[in-house]
Order: sequence, then C-alpha cells, then structure tokens
Amino acid sequence: MCGIIGYTGPLDGKKILLEGLSGLEYRGYDSAGIALCTIDSGIEVFKKVGKVSNLRDYCNQHTAAVSHCGIGHTRWATHGGVTDENAHPHRAGRVTLIHNGIIENYHQLTERYHLEEELVSQTDSEVAARVLDRLYQGDPLAALGELSGMLEGSYGFCVMFDDQPGNIYAMRSVSPLVAACTRSGSLVASDLTALIPYTREYFVVPEGKIVKLTPYKVNIYSLDENFSKYTPEMMSVNWNMDAAMKNGYPHFMLKEIHEQPEAMKNTILPRINKGLPDFSDDGIPDDLFADCSQIHVIACGTAMHTGMVAQAIMEPVLRIPVTVTIASEFRYQDPLVDDKTLVIVISQSGETIDTLAALRLAQEYGARTLSIVNVKGSTIARESDYVLYTHAGPEIAVASTKAYSVQLAALYMIACRMAYIRGKYSREEAVRFLTDLLDAVPAMETMLTQADFIKGIVTHIIQSPDAFFIGRGLDYAFSLEGALKLKEISYIHAEAYAAGELKHGTIALISEKVPVIATATQQHVFSKTISNIREVKARGAYVILLAKEGSIIDSSLADVIIRIPDLDDRFTVFPIAVALQLIAYYASIGKNLDVDQPRNLAKSVTVE
Ligand code: F6R
Repeated sequence: MCGIIGYTGPLDGKKILLEGLSGLEYRGYDSAGIALCTIDSGIEVFKKVGKVSNLRDYCNQHTAAVSHCGIGHTRWATHGGVTDENAHPHRAGRVTLIHNGIIENYHQLTERYHLEEELVSQTDSEVAARVLDRLYQGDPLAALGELSGMLEGSYGFCVMFDDQPGNIYAMRSVSPLVAACTRSGSLVASDLTALIPYTREYFVVPEGKIVKLTPYKVNIYSLDENFSKYTPEMMSVNWNMDAAMKNGYPHFMLKEIHEQPEAMKNTILPRINKGLPDFSDDGIPDDLFADCSQIHVIACGTAMHTGMVAQAIMEPVLRIPVTVTIASEFRYQDPLVDDKTLVIVISQSGETIDTLAALRLAQEYGARTLSIVNVKGSTIARESDYVLYTHAGPEIAVASTKAYSVQLAALYMIACRMAYIRGKYSREEAVRFLTDLLDAVPAMETMLTQADFIKGIVTHIIQSPDAFFIGRGLDYAFSLEGALKLKEISYIHAEAYAAGELKHGTIALISEKVPVIATATQQHVFSKTISNIREVKARGAYVILLAKEGSIIDSSLADVIIRIPDLDDRFTVFPIAVALQLIAYYASIGKNLDVDQPRNLAKSVTVE
C-alpha cells in the first residue's frame, strides 16, 4: 500500500512524479505529495489530502519552478489520520523522506531520540525521517545503513538529503521497490507501472542494500564495512503501457473484466503439450504433485476465494485433503504442515504481506511451496520454491477481476496435471478436462455480450442496503466472490451463504424485496438449491437467479434469470465470475461511486 516514486534526470521531474503517482494511485489515495529539488530553493515539499489530481492542482498553483530531481508519494493511511501533515514527504532537518510500510518500533525510537516535541505528524514515517537526520553526518550510506539496523517492521524508503542535490537514495525491507537507469534518467518506484513509460528493463531493489540514483547512473551498495558495490539481476517486462491504460473504457475494472478471455488464453495455451497441462517450461517438476499427501492453499480475499473453488475441484478427484486457509490466520497458527505437504500460495501482486508471511512459515515447517502470482519478480514469486505466473497483464482496478479467472485457470491446470500424474485421470479424461477448460473461454465471451442486460437489472440491488448471495457446493464458492465484489465497490452489505445454511439463522434477515442472488449450476444439488430459493422467495425476497442455459426453471421462482452457457458443472465458475463482476460494476456505477478506487482500500496490501 502507498505508492512511491523517485526520479532524477534531464526531464521535468514534477511532471514525471505526478504522472507516475497517477499510475500508482491504486496503491492508496488518502493523500499525495511530492518533494522537488530546485537550484534556487533547495528542496520544497507539496502535499495535499485527497487524490493526485488535488495535488496536481495545488502544485500548479504554488510552483512554477523547474526541477530535475524529486520524490513522490500516494498514501494509504496507517499511522495517523488523513491530514496534510500526515501526508508524505516528511521533512526533518536535512532529510526528506517518503515511506511505504510500517515501522513497528516507532514508539521506542521516538522515546530514545526524544522526538516528542519535534514531531509535526502522527506518522511512524516521520519518526524514521527524524532518526535518519540525527544519524546523518554527511555520509548517506552510513546513515541509512545504521537506520536499517534499528528499524523493525516493513519499509520502502526514498530519501533526499539537502546537501546531495540531484541524488536519491532508496532502500527496502519487505515492501516492494523496483528501479531502473534509463536514457530519460534514473527511476525508483514501488511498482513497475511507474517505470514502464521509460523502460522495459528494471531490477528489484534487493533487501539489505542501498540504491543511489544519480541522473545517469544507479549504483547499489551492500551494507558491509566498505559498502561494496552490488550488481542486481536485471528483469524485463513483457507488457507495454497500453496494458496499463483504460484504452477507451470508462474504468479499469470494466476493461479488466473484458480482458478475461484473452488473459485466460495467455495463461493456459503456452502450458498445453499434447493436449495435457505441462509445467516443464515453468520449471515445475511432476514429483511436486506426485509425492504430496495433502495440499494447503493459502491466500487473501479474492485470491483465497479461488482456493475455495480449487478445493471443490481437487478433493473429489485427488482424494487427498485440500485445506484452504486465510493467510492472516495461517501465519499465526501452528499448522498441520510437513514435508509431504504441497502449499500453494496465491497472490496477484505477489506482495501481500500476510501471504508472504504464511509462505515463509510453511517453508519453516518443511513444506514444498508453489506460488501462483501475476507480478513477475515479486517477493512471493521469488521466495516460493516454484512459481506459476498468470499472464493477466497489469491489474489496476482495486477490485480484482481478471486475476481471479487466471488464478482459477492455473489451479484447474494443476488439478488436471496432478490427477493425471497420480493415476486419477486417464490421458483421455485429462485431455477432456483441459478441453472443457478451454471451452470456458468462449463462454466468458458470451457472458460479456450480456453486459447491457445485467446493467438493466441492478436497479433493484442498489436500492437495498443488503444483498445475499446463495448457492451450494461450487456455486457457494462462486457466491463468496460475488458478495465480496459487490460490497467492496458498491458499499452494499453483501453476504454469501451456503444455500442450505440460510435457515439456521440468516433467513431472519430475508424480508420483502431483499435482493438474493442465487446461483444454481451444480446438477447434483440443483433441486436442493431450488428448494432453498423457494424458501427465500416465500419470504418476499427479490431473486436474481444464475442458471445454465436449458435448465428448467419455474417462472414463479425468480424475478430475473441470468442464463449461463451450458458448460460441464465444474467450469461454470468462469462465465459466472463475469456475470457477478458485472453486477458489482454496474451497481457501483448506479450509485455513482468510484469504481476503480473504492474507499478505504488499496490494491496491494503490504501491511498487516
Ligand atoms: C478484492 C481484492 C482483494 C485481493 C487480496 C489479495 O477484489 O482484490 O481481496 O484479492 O487483497 O491480493 P493479492 O492477490 O495481491 O495477494
């Protein structure tokens, strides 16, 4: 959370920082700020509560100065309220600093350095800036090295020193930072989106090192006695700036919903060999799948919901336990995990702090780990034993859509490969499974053509403060994601229930006109789900039913029916995901809300 960027070079620094912050805004949008280094005035700070557009207006009114070096920040508040004072950058003596992360021992540092009287904000970040200023005796590497030894928690810092004009220093622990030296100057940022307009080549800032950016050079120093130079591993991006633009869509979320069929193909097709899933190009050996006696899937939010679907797909075929755990819970458990456990961690960003901590814990317990990650080179991808990259391209909208589908595609392929290797599927069955998975792609396209129909039916949902999503089996797993999508971008209280569980309490909340979005695509529980729908209908609910093309539905059962292409039951999640995402999207639009940047949220959750 929090987006950070630093630039030094020949171009207009203010413009680069503000444009970079606009691209990073999905990481947090409580406030934004920049610090510019100018020949006449030294370092000047501009910061404002609200979005980057506020900051842009403020800067345009308050400075015409030209700067070729500066740092910028867009904040997701952790310590201290959303105020101009708490916005970054923070000035302390000769130090100007921006921070992404949490300094856990800021209180102890405040006491140790008697900072109480000096602090002008309530942030942990200002404490780091003030301690750094105390440590600074003219040698940035020495001061930063000493600071890093004192800090507990997570940080990505960019720092300018008054007496080092044109230079930016950066270092990190846990929180992400990438950097590049380009023909247009040197850049460092919390996310690739800020670098892509200038370069395809970049490196991940290594933990325990200090990066110094000068206009035409980027040097990395180890924290040893002599600050010896370090050569990073260079990486290249395989998507271009178009992928991070709206390209004619009114919102990133709608664009990303529409990108799903393509993202599915990009994730699945390169991994098919002779009709079977094949992960040899990913370097994933078959013994990883053959030898395990159980699977743990660990993730947060939407990514965790893909695990719920995977469990329902894998367990009946593999006949081994598949456990799905929320990462923030797993990390503080004493989990039943051993060297015969395959731990699959799922993360779009590859930076979610709880998922990362859970991965590390699983490794301590001796588990073999496989991550499903979208962002290349991210921490989770680098630290897991094996990584299966999804090829969704950048996901900018805070609400995850295309990442959900491709994570599922990856999990379905793993399920298929495992079933084949473990003798649970014959070659024919495995080939059939994969063909069915590919059939889900045109089914998603068909669903997208129903966007206008779905737009027309949300009117009822947005008039209600509550909504319920119900289904059985796999349909319940899909419902969890439908409810999360609706609540996070429309602020309607939405809950998902296993349809049979409703009458054990929750049905008390069903009254006249309460929207119930019911999914009934699983044949073996179809009639049971239909009975549950009748129960809510009898209590006056407004029922929107998602059912397969061709399934026979009594007209009195639902107020609206959304028809899903007739796929094998195991694959209906793909078109249903599209339908549920469109419901949430149009509900948010109908309420005139900020679809791409819903309140209180941020795209990449790098704090606990
Ligand atoms: C919801 C959403 C979140 C993320 C969760 C995990 O739309 O996007 O629930 O799925 O924060 O993020 P990653 O996948 O980056 O680990």
